[in-house]
Amino acid sequence: MEHYDVMRTTFAARQYTNTQVSDATLYRILDNARFAPSGGNRQGWRVLVIKDQARRQALREIMAPTIKQYKAQAMAGETPFNTITPSQVSAATIDATPANFPLVDELEQAPVLLVVCVDLKLVSSMDKDLDRVGLISGASIYPFAWNIITAARNEGLGGVLTTFLANREPQAKQLLELPADVAVAAMIAIGEPVKQLTKLKRGPVDGFTTIDSYSGPAFTGKGASD
Ligand SMILES: Cc1cc2nc3c(=O)[nH]c(=O)nc-3n(C[C@H](O)[C@H](O)[C@H](O)COP(=O)(O)O)c2cc1C
Repeated sequence: MEHYDVMRTTFAARQYTNTQVSDATLYRILDNARFAPSGGNRQGWRVLVIKDQARRQALREIMAPTIKQYKAQAMAGETPFNTITPSQVSAATIDATPANFPLVDELEQAPVLLVVCVDLKLVSSMDKDLDRVGLISGASIYPFAWNIITAARNEGLGGVLTTFLANREPQAKQLLELPADVAVAAMIAIGEPVKQLTKLKRGPVDGFTTIDSYSGPAFTGKGASD
């Protein structure tokens, strides 16, 4: 596919047909995804291909409390798990929220299920001393994760990334036998999408790009030098 087409049409595919994805295809996806950038080119990624059904079920169970909390907060109009605005949602409301969620409910059926991890010993976290949530560490792993999804798209497949598992990292670490310094970045499912979406909803460039300062004029791409 043409590069801009991949960028504009790679949607979050959460429902898959029964068509299996071969190990050879998955290998090819990972073999291309590995050219992602990472700080210092240290390539701290580790990928676990979860084939065992019992482990998939255990992962679903581990994520259930996080999903309940996410859904309860989202239904209350909040940005779930936000570090700036404290949640007003009660424990009782979270408790009463069902744990069902697209993809996760059918986790055992996903043609491919990956857990993408990162070795924190190889990550430079430039913002580690700032008084806010860490952001930069992710920059050494999520380009790789996104490469997996766009490579899947290039294979005529689709995928979705979820971060629910990271919220229960201690349990995930135990289940997947992760070393102490290896963090869970994402779970990625891949398969042949039931439906190919080609029109994604995103805001326009001049809605998020300004000139010279945050409150500067919108960048419209129609400057004097054109
Ligand atoms: C950090 C991150 C976490 C996400 N977590 C989930 C998730 O837990 N479950 C899910 O179905 N989709 C998840 N997504 C996919 C987003 O919902 C999706 O990218 C967004 O809604 C846009 O969807 P579209 O590309 O189909 O338009 C996640 C995406 C990102 C980048």
